[in-house]
Amino acid sequence: MPQDAVVSTPTVAIVGGGPAGLMLSHLLHRGGIDSVVVERRTRDESETTHRAGILEADSVRMLVETGVSDRVLREGDEHEGIDLRFGGVSHRIDFGHHIGESVWLYPQTDVFIDLADARARDGGDVRFGASDVTVHDVDSTSPRVSFTDADGTPQELRPTLVVAADGSRSECRDLVPERLRRTFRREYPFAWFGILCEAPPSAPELVYTHSERGFALISQRTPTVQRMYFQCDPGTKADDWSEEQIWDEFQARVAGEDDFHLHTGPIIDKTVLGFRSFVQEPMRYGTLLLAGDAAHTVPPTGAKGLNLALADVHTLAALIESALAADDLDVLDHYTPRALERVWRAQNFSYWMTQMLHHPGNGEGASFDSRRQLGELASVVGTEGGQRYVAECYTGWPLRK
Ligand code: DHB
Repeated sequence: MPQDAVVSTPTVAIVGGGPAGLMLSHLLHRGGIDSVVVERRTRDESETTHRAGILEADSVRMLVETGVSDRVLREGDEHEGIDLRFGGVSHRIDFGHHIGESVWLYPQTDVFIDLADARARDGGDVRFGASDVTVHDVDSTSPRVSFTDADGTPQELRPTLVVAADGSRSECRDLVPERLRRTFRREYPFAWFGILCEAPPSAPELVYTHSERGFALISQRTPTVQRMYFQCDPGTKADDWSEEQIWDEFQARVAGEDDFHLHTGPIIDKTVLGFRSFVQEPMRYGTLLLAGDAAHTVPPTGAKGLNLALADVHTLAALIESALAADDLDVLDHYTPRALERVWRAQNFSYWMTQMLHHPGNGEGASFDSRRQLGELASVVGTEGGQRYVAECYTGWPLRK
């Protein structure tokens, strides 16, 4: 006979325990609102997945000023600019000079660890390793979330609100009826080949490179471990590439008259990462709210994904507090327009950086586009306005509640 489910009644049930879900739970806790986070992956699985590494200044402030952790200030690396490299020459965009802001190199994995630690420290209820997670009745005022916890015990949450922070393959977002939802998407004919290697940094800041062989991004992690990516065909198998081939490809893409040369070393991880642009509107339906990648994904160029997720939950936490205080869930109708304002700016920036820097393939008009990209890049780095635009978008737009 099936075991009876253990019933709990948190105010908010959060499906997904990545940075968006955990940060929301943390912010709600600070506002006196209890939540339960349900996550399919184990903590260990989340801690060993490599993701992007750039935090906007406001994301850093959110971590530090809300008391998650100040580890980012001690172990992260502040960057006051990036290089746009094309035609074999690097051009620095100086964020400090243009807008007095910076970004921080601090991997998403560390953001996750800080948030999971903060939730544990503050007595948060986070159920890692859950299975059979199902959300019911979000069109009513008594939604439910059922799941089996890591010990095999059936559980049921009966919250006031459900937040779907279940990532880019969200199942929860499909609970919004088709007649009410609109989705917007764009596919790209390329992917990224990402590596982690044991080597010293090759440059003090990130180098976004346009070359005749395609895009490359030289990023960092620590004084002894580096992160780099090159544009590849989406069908590429990481294991088909030897270390030697990978390094030859990177070196060829960054080569130039300044003799820029990468420091190489043993490759400790290699993965092919597909991507797309995606938005689902609205972000509220009844007692269901979508946050982060569940509602929108961006291509990785410009590192907006994590920052956008944190901005969503910053807005959402404030609105949930107001809605509950006023006993009026319609306050949550402000969420979609407020969040989307930033989402579409970030979609535009990520799309723009992607199309400006990636090899357009061999189709009709592609050779025209390759040359045109050089004109576009020259216009960006060659004007105050162009540089300032990159600086503003890259460091992020002001947060709003
Ligand atoms: C990293 C990834 C990005 O997509 C980006 O734009 C910048 C940095 C990274 O993993 O370091």
